[in-house]
Amino acid sequence: MRIVLFTGKGGVGKTTAAAGAAVLAGRRGLKTLVMSTDAAHSLGDAFGVAVGSEPTEVGAGVWVQQVDAQRRFEASWQQVQDYLRSVLDAVGVDPIAAEEITVVPGAEEVLALLEVREQAASGRWDLVVVDCAPTAETLRLLALPEALGWYMDKIFPTERRVVRALSPLLSRAAGVPMPEGRVFDAVERLHRDLGEVHDLLVGPQSSVRLVLTPEQVVVAEARRAFTTLSLFGYTVDGVVANRVFPAGGEDPWRDRWVEAQSAVLGDVDASFAPLPVWRSPYLPAEPVGADAVADLATEVYGDDDPFAPVEAGAGPLTVERRGDDVDLVLRLPFAVTGEVALARHGGDLVVTVGSYRRLLALPASLARHDVSRAKVADGRLRVRFSRGERT
Ligand SMILES: Nc1ncnc2c1ncn2[C@@H]1O[C@H](COP(=O)(O)OP(=O)(O)OP(=O)(O)O)[C@@H](O)[C@H]1O
Ligand SMILES: [Mg+2]
Repeated sequence: MRIVLFTGKGGVGKTTAAAGAAVLAGRRGLKTLVMSTDAAHSLGDAFGVAVGSEPTEVGAGVWVQQVDAQRRFEASWQQVQDYLRSVLDAVGVDPIAAEEITVVPGAEEVLALLEVREQAASGRWDLVVVDCAPTAETLRLLALPEALGWYMDKIFPTERRVVRALSPLLSRAAGVPMPEGRVFDAVERLHRDLGEVHDLLVGPQSSVRLVLTPEQVVVAEARRAFTTLSLFGYTVDGVVANRVFPAGGEDPWRDRWVEAQSAVLGDVDASFAPLPVWRSPYLPAEPVGADAVADLATEVYGDDDPFAPVEAGAGPLTVERRGDDVDLVLRLPFAVTGEVALARHGGDLVVTVGSYRRLLALPASLARHDVSRAKVADGRLRVRFSRGERT
């Protein structure tokens, strides 16, 4: 079983790319589910059919599902939210404001990913394609359970016991309700569920594909998403550059666009190599329907296998913590020490190997670190960042 997540900035063509890849996979004999965790029902639009919250067959070997995020939300988070609301109510916060305060941005989307885990575990599918919400935000939120691991293991059970023992007393003294057992149950369940989704999506059968259009701002965001995803352990397996103007013709307006896009695509190659950057042409009309999206995907992938197994340790960028220092490890096949030059340019690290240049958006957490050491070994460049004197 294989899972491929499609993400990228708003409107770049994630849904189209996910739908096309799924139809292609179905035709190549993989039993495929394509699901959207997005509240907008755009997968149905891409296929030109109505899609429900249960998998619906839309063609040879391909099923579509639109996750009912609201239902997921109610099942997983409602009790916690109700409790928070009762506390806010007790301290006199206006109920409408309380309602707004307890809405966690991105929560529905994250909870929708629980459905991905269920479908993956069902044993029904060879491939699950996920059309994700814009950018890496959601996937980043999935790191929360891991980050809270220590707290949940060591503190939470004690807190729970203390609250149970002292609940009546505390409620009276503080004037706010204490959480009941089921609120703790809900938090615990949510923590476990999200942790499992995270493990699944960073696991060896899963990868993330970035969709972008050849425009500076879009590429800048994709590069940041790439760093963020790598930082949180996801394997990015390739880039789909969508809406590429075909060259040729006599139109100077189009020639200018072709030229501008080709410069940006050069940057894209430099930013994501050695990952494949698949080019997806700008079609003269919106691709709607299984055939149209599959035709586009056929052009995008050519002879490549878009669902090849993820190579172990294939992630081109990994981040390792060493005490106060941080090592960025970049896969640079064929590089040797003498050939590698490093420069810091704003928030970017510029790596030059001979005539080949790689641009890397650095994570914000490294903004105040300096490069203290760099070394090439076994086709990997290891750059050490140490906390600098700068403030
Ligand atoms: N290569 C292309 N040529 C022409 N039209 C395209 C192409 N790719 C996508 N489109 C059209 O652009 C629109 C946006 O595409 P799509 O819905 O796939 O983007 P998205 O990234 O999923 O957007 P959102 O962020 O809103 O979910 C759709 O109408 C789609 O049919
Ligand atoms: Mg979409």
